[in-house]
Amino acid sequence: MKETIDYLNSNFDNYLEELKEFLRIPSISALPANKDDVNRAAAFVAVKLKDAGLSRVEIIKTEGHPLVYGEWLGAPGKPTVLIYGHYDVQPVDPLELWDSPPFEPVIKNNKIFARGATDDKGQMHVHIKSVEAFFKTRGTLPLNVKFLIEGEEEIGSENLEVFINNNTELLKCDAVLVSDSSLYAPGIPTITYGLRGLCYMEVEVTGPNRDLHSGTFGGAVANPVNVLAGMIAKLHDKKGRVTIPGFYKDVVNLTKKERANFRRFKFSAKKYAEDLGVAELSGEKGYTTIERTCARPTLDCNGIVGGFTGKGAKTVLPSKASSKISMRLVPNQDPEKIAKLFTKHIKKLAPKSVKVKIQNLHGGYPFVTQLGDPVTYAASRAMEKAFGKKTLFMRDGGSIPIITVFNKKLKAPAVLMGFGLDSENAHSPNEHFDLDSYKKGLISSVLFLSEYSG
Ligand code: BES
Ligand code: MN
Ligand code: MN
Repeated sequence: MKETIDYLNSNFDNYLEELKEFLRIPSISALPANKDDVNRAAAFVAVKLKDAGLSRVEIIKTEGHPLVYGEWLGAPGKPTVLIYGHYDVQPVDPLELWDSPPFEPVIKNNKIFARGATDDKGQMHVHIKSVEAFFKTRGTLPLNVKFLIEGEEEIGSENLEVFINNNTELLKCDAVLVSDSSLYAPGIPTITYGLRGLCYMEVEVTGPNRDLHSGTFGGAVANPVNVLAGMIAKLHDKKGRVTIPGFYKDVVNLTKKERANFRRFKFSAKKYAEDLGVAELSGEKGYTTIERTCARPTLDCNGIVGGFTGKGAKTVLPSKASSKISMRLVPNQDPEKIAKLFTKHIKKLAPKSVKVKIQNLHGGYPFVTQLGDPVTYAASRAMEKAFGKKTLFMRDGGSIPIITVFNKKLKAPAVLMGFGLDSENAHSPNEHFDLDSYKKGLISSVLFLSEYSG
């Protein structure tokens, strides 16, 4: 493998330039105004896959943003790995909190700053370059490879799910490799063996049929902002537990063994709190911070709007208030079932004085994988060699809903070999990606392809 790894190392600066080019494309999937940019990012990925040496590369139109598919199946008898990633990114607001413009990548302190740097352009780029390095140095790959890179991960992967359902033969593989998660800490190779699911709801509360003078009418009608805030406040009890009846019914509780394993991870609550700028941590009683974020279900209001929030004071009793509320789920909670329980509970909490409209925006299943598959060993060994440390196995609190679809429809195990860091501001201003992780990611990818082929 030495020649291929040497090749990677000597071309690192070129890869960085190419990654910068990729990061300059504002492929924000959520915003209709960025549709052309999203298409440009798909085209960029397709060109790079083709240049890397894949034999068949296609941009596949969907009802939404395109998918990019690429394959090289020149190693009969060897396993086939499907590499999944996403070229779409999150919106950038609040823009004023960025130290440099989100789509003008800059390198500072050995980190590259731009929207999408860690989530997921930087992480997925690694695999394109490792495949290319194989072709350049050996003229071949040690196994069969399929790439499936989507442009709607950040908005729920709905069209990818349809595509997978209709193309199980095309996508047939022995395992799925995903680099869209985090290392436990800088320099620590980590395989993520579980992710939380998601149930994302919108609640709109309507009171009077128009905004009213809060002096003339205040006291006579229910204020939808007050009502909504009150309802949200009732969604947790004093112990930090979610109050929706039945919410915990299907939760698989942590085993003693897993809790003991979590306790072995180095973790300083003090440092964690300091870093986030909070005086103390808070969450469900009876669980550690790692357990709370990785293995317990939670409910968060993601945003709330209504009435007057401009400069100065305008006295008004607003007609409407609305909020987006997400629930992170753990095995065996079912997002559809949770959406129903949530809806029922919110309706019960709402007073007659307002109308409520509740919508289920999107969801995904949680998962925990069995660690026995050869693909997990291959990834673990590859990371171990690349990082020069023992690989940790950890669950994470984020969600990649499409992974359970791969498991179910392709009957293939997935391995999450991520290179990001929780501290890299994914979805937030000043997103960045550590260049050491990027470099080790490149090497891990080469070693993985080699390990998994044998
Ligand atoms: N890469 C993240 C998920 C992630 C983050 C996995 C950290 C492991 C560690 C992904 O791009 C993402 O942001 N997913 C969304 C879900 C989606 C349905 C919008 C999330 O977790 O909020
Ligand atoms: Mn991601
Ligand atoms: Mn994301």
